[in-house]
Amino acid sequence: MSEVTQDYIVDFLSTIQPISNPFLLALEEEAHRNRVPIISFEVKSLLEVLLSMHQPKKILEIGTAIGYSSILMSQYLAKNGSITTIDRYPFMIEQAKKNIARANLEDIITLLEGDAEDILPTLEPAFDFIFMDAAKAQYHVFLPYCVSLLRPGGILIADNVLNKGMIAQSRVDVPRRHRTTHKRLRNFIWDVYHHPELKSSILSIGDGIALCHKTKLNEENNYEKQ
Ligand SMILES: C[S@@+](CC[C@H](N)C(=O)[O-])C[C@H]1O[C@@H](n2cnc3c(N)ncnc32)[C@H](O)[C@@H]1O
Repeated sequence: MSEVTQDYIVDFLSTIQPISNPFLLALEEEAHRNRVPIISFEVKSLLEVLLSMHQPKKILEIGTAIGYSSILMSQYLAKNGSITTIDRYPFMIEQAKKNIARANLEDIITLLEGDAEDILPTLEPAFDFIFMDAAKAQYHVFLPYCVSLLRPGGILIADNVLNKGMIAQSRVDVPRRHRTTHKRLRNFIWDVYHHPELKSSILSIGDGIALCHKTKLNEENNYEKQ
């Protein structure tokens, strides 16, 4: 169910969306059964459009969970492409490894185990596509690493950036326990909008998406053609 769109629209779209292939469908059912948060169907279709337009060779994902979105994205890789995905939660890592093996994708998807804050500084550029789907309160920390890991012309997507719409509320109306995340996510959204190397749009689908294109300013402060 959507978090920041009107339910009747999401309900309608959910009834007419294409059904996933049997392997992904089984993973969707597994995720729902075990209450593992995976991407919504709206985010899935957005990723599919962008990936089929872009056909990336190297994808980085932060937040593997059971491997659902990695396995989905692997269908859109260019020839000899690869995915690096990061998770820190042992239960998820175990499930993801099992699912990646069942999908015969062990040579294509590399799962790095640990906190993305520690792993991102160790990675080598350049990735064509980065999907951020982990702890929202850390997005502002991940962002500078992701921008340097992304090649010019690459795409960065971050999920859940509107935090059930809470992001638009005044700080005083946000329950105390959510205020740190509220502040950090607002900083993240500010950073993606104002980053000199990014052109960004915030989309009200699912729980909110930041869609960013890495570009470069030339000496006259115009965007260079990629
Ligand atoms: C929403 S789930 C990812 C869902 C997955 N992308 C999908 O759609 O199939 C978020 C995952 O991010 C992981 N995670 C959260 N913060 C992290 C961090 N700082 N470093 C590594 N993994 C993190 C959690 O363990 C969890 O498995």
